[in-house]
Amino acid sequence: MSTDQNKFQAIISHCKEYGFVFQSSEIYDGLSAVYDYGQYGSELKKNIKDYWWKSMTQLHENIVGIDAAIFMHPTTWKASGHVDNFSDPMIDNKDSNKRYRVDHLIEGFAETLPQEAANALLAQMDELLKENDFAGLKTLIESNKIKCSISGTSNWTDVRQFNLMFSTQLGSVTDEASEIYLRPETAQGIFVNFLNVQKTGRMKVPFGIAQIGKAFRNEIVARQFIFRMREFEQMEMQFFVRPGTQQEWYEKWKEERMQWHLSLGTDPAKYQFKNHIKLAHYADAAVDIEYEFPFGFKEVEGIHSRTDFDLKQHQEYSKKKIQYFDTEINQNYVPYVIETSIGLDRMFLLTICNAYAEEDLSTEDKQDSRVVLRLPAKLAPVKLAIFPLTKKDGLPELARELMDDCKHAFYCFYEEKDAIGKRYRRQDAIGTPFCVTIDHQTKEDGTVTIRHRDSMEQERIPLSEVKALVLSKIL
Ligand code: GAP
Repeated sequence: MSTDQNKFQAIISHCKEYGFVFQSSEIYDGLSAVYDYGQYGSELKKNIKDYWWKSMTQLHENIVGIDAAIFMHPTTWKASGHVDNFSDPMIDNKDSNKRYRVDHLIEGFAETLPQEAANALLAQMDELLKENDFAGLKTLIESNKIKCSISGTSNWTDVRQFNLMFSTQLGSVTDEASEIYLRPETAQGIFVNFLNVQKTGRMKVPFGIAQIGKAFRNEIVARQFIFRMREFEQMEMQFFVRPGTQQEWYEKWKEERMQWHLSLGTDPAKYQFKNHIKLAHYADAAVDIEYEFPFGFKEVEGIHSRTDFDLKQHQEYSKKKIQYFDTEINQNYVPYVIETSIGLDRMFLLTICNAYAEEDLSTEDKQDSRVVLRLPAKLAPVKLAIFPLTKKDGLPELARELMDDCKHAFYCFYEEKDAIGKRYRRQDAIGTPFCVTIDHQTKEDGTVTIRHRDSMEQERIPLSEVKALVLSKIL
């Protein structure tokens, strides 16, 4: 059994062993902080995406979705402030040449201190970060004698900003004018399309635009598996509101997003809100939804009140009017924006961490255990596993008939090999909520054994009811 400390390592190994997540380009020793999703991982990820997309677009009449390109005109990033501001304070150790994000270095050190001292140190750090006081941050690191984990010395460079955007060249000519960025957030694709969508969709404020897509950040300290990656996916929604109503909508979206998380059945005690102390350059209020991962409470989603900053900037840089005429009040204005932004990969990690359980099933006579992913049925990669008890007597044919009937409605898995108990365990490990066994009785009375993943209970139900039962649990 895993202890709390090694649970995270066990989860990472499980993700690899069962085809959820692989290190990118593993045969070449991998690429740091870049990961690939395997056969079950890609299904789980897609199900999370679909659940978010449906909740945003299909269930909100005033939210529509778009799919903007990753490459955008370079001026986009000048206007958005990312060229000048999208950076983290970094410090290098002169002996090891290892580079640290200043907040991570100090937070790591704080974990070694008694609670009260740690809180005091973190409060000092927050204050200095808020003021962008780099000299003060360096003094804080030096006065606490914080050491590099590699060299063991406190021989530090000055603190300086490091831009997190990746750049590349468009076309064949390599000059400054052809330099473009890989988008560090999907939100800008929404802002630059504000008028396109508003006009063609005849959208009335308040309304939202949702998008799911890749984002790229040259994270300096990439760690904790898929928690912090250099290539990742975001699910973002910009909600455009009348100026002056942003506070009310901010509170509403805060609540709605938390309810979305809880709708997946997670224990509410595993979630908390954390207000931002240092606001991003575009925000007038911001809060994180944090989940208690095995390595502590960490951000999964941000809700930001982005004011009219982005639209106004694009208006200024593009020299095109980006305004909305509000017929209710007979006024033109640049709408304010409330953003909800959740990392798809973090939501994936949260889902796996929340679902992973090692269970001791030993009895007096027999040692036994299982690893089970208690995934919400609607997110599980495979919904139904279908097992003929034996490979003969017409049982595979009956099982195949059920497979053919169900596979258009949801993802099924068919298997004939090994004892039923072993087949159940393999499905537990990937989180399949239902397994059905076709046996000789099926031929006689048309019933099957359905086995429930979490309780491991088995019951006999008519074969003809299997599809409807699974459908009722996954919608
Ligand atoms: N448009 C606003 C925005 O991008 P953010 O807080 O920088 O805000 C939003 O990012 C979400 O994207 C985070 O809450 C997190 O879930 C995810 N995210 C950010 N950086 C990430 C990274 N390096 N790896 C994985 N997910 C990341």
